[in-house]
Amino acid sequence: MNFQKHYASSYDLLYSDKNYDEETKLLTSLINEFHNDSDKNLNILEIGCGTGEHARRLLKSGHQIHAIDKSQYMLEIAQAKLRDNTSISFEVGDITSFKSSTKYDVVLMMFHVFSYLESSAQVKNALKNIKLSLKPDGIFIFDYWNTLGVNNFGASTTHKVSKTQNLEVTRKAIPQTINEQIIDVNYELNFLNKVQNESQEFKETHRMRHFTPIEIENYLKEEGFTSLVTYGWGKNTKPTDMDWAGLTVARNS
Ligand SMILES: C[S@@+](CC[C@H](N)C(=O)[O-])C[C@H]1O[C@@H](n2cnc3c(N)ncnc32)[C@H](O)[C@@H]1O
Repeated sequence: MNFQKHYASSYDLLYSDKNYDEETKLLTSLINEFHNDSDKNLNILEIGCGTGEHARRLLKSGHQIHAIDKSQYMLEIAQAKLRDNTSISFEVGDITSFKSSTKYDVVLMMFHVFSYLESSAQVKNALKNIKLSLKPDGIFIFDYWNTLGVNNFGASTTHKVSKTQNLEVTRKAIPQTINEQIIDVNYELNFLNKVQNESQEFKETHRMRHFTPIEIENYLKEEGFTSLVTYGWGKNTKPTDMDWAGLTVARNS
């Protein structure tokens, strides 16, 4: 199991350089472009909401959000941030088994959540559950590791150090190729309490699957979605071997 207590507690610090403002603008512009009722307040399902950074920005546009995450620790952080907001509800849930009685206008699955679906059975179950959660014509927006970019750049060990006044978190990410689709990212976290000058180590392995744009198209088609656009991350052109991640918008139809 990943996104355990300590990884979750350091997540916002480790990703304080991630531009959630720009990403939320991108999501809003994709919703405006592809959802037929984008002028109304929408009912959104966010899968793998993590610590709620997209959700808390999207709520400012007046949408209703149901946010699910497999990790209770990530969800608890999101819940604490948004505890006074009545337009959002939370649920610990895994999209491979999630069943919804509500139909949503939009389903979001952002920051590589899709790449945590390691087997074809998991991908298919997730897509079936997403389809069942969407209104007819509802849209699904998601991103994932792009095989073309992953193979071109190659996964390499990275170090990241993030600090507050009293805490320094060092994260080493050591990738290990398992097969032509799967990379295990072995995270080693060191928490240095600067006040007490004590450090603690934690480890987690995140198994990531990468997908070619064609695989994504095929899975979507098989499960009854129409793919609307697929872009390289941060671009508005098709993913190439220069893009580590791809982003796709699909319609339930
Ligand atoms: C890299 S984080 C992204 C969090 C958030 N979307 C963001 O942009 O910061 C991936 C999240 O997906 C969640 N996750 C992974 N697999 C999942 C699944 N099968 N169902 C629901 N959540 C999942 C993890 O617990 C984690 O919170």
